Amino acid sequence: MIKEQIDRIIDKYVAKEGVLIQLLLEIQRELNWIPVEAVNRINERLGIPVSEIYRVVSFYTAFSLKPRGKHLVRVCAGTACYVRGGQRVMDATEKAIGIKAGETSNDLEFTLQPVNCLGCCALGPVVEIDSKYYGTATPKQIELIIARKRSA
Ligand code: FES
Repeated sequence: MIKEQIDRIIDKYVAKEGVLIQLLLEIQRELNWIPVEAVNRINERLGIPVSEIYRVVSFYTAFSLKPRGKHLVRVCAGTACYVRGGQRVMDATEKAIGIKAGETSNDLEFTLQPVNCLGCCALGPVVEIDSKYYGTATPKQIELIIARKRSA
């Protein structure tokens, strides 16, 4: 089934040039990760070398070679956020989800990623949940958002 899903996505990119990132983004969006089957099918059907595919996948944090949770939670661990209480926010997030930074919950609901900077240091501590940014985040606020996502 996953093979058909991957082939259906690849079908849209056959005979097009410079589409690797777009194609990988679509696979990541649909499957929540880039399985080895996808890498091999892209290689077989589009002739893009496996090394090139892995180079792109490992360069961009948007891609994951392991299954990601339905909700991606990224907590900034950069210095500007750290001095404003980022570690307390990270601790609360780990507790609320029940996993450690860098892990994915067993039910594949959440992936918790520490990041070096989310690019809006003045708003620290910053947390990004499902592509939405929360500035001056507090442990309580993040706990509530996690609880809402869990029950959604
Ligand atoms: S250090 Fe946290 S957003 Fe830059």
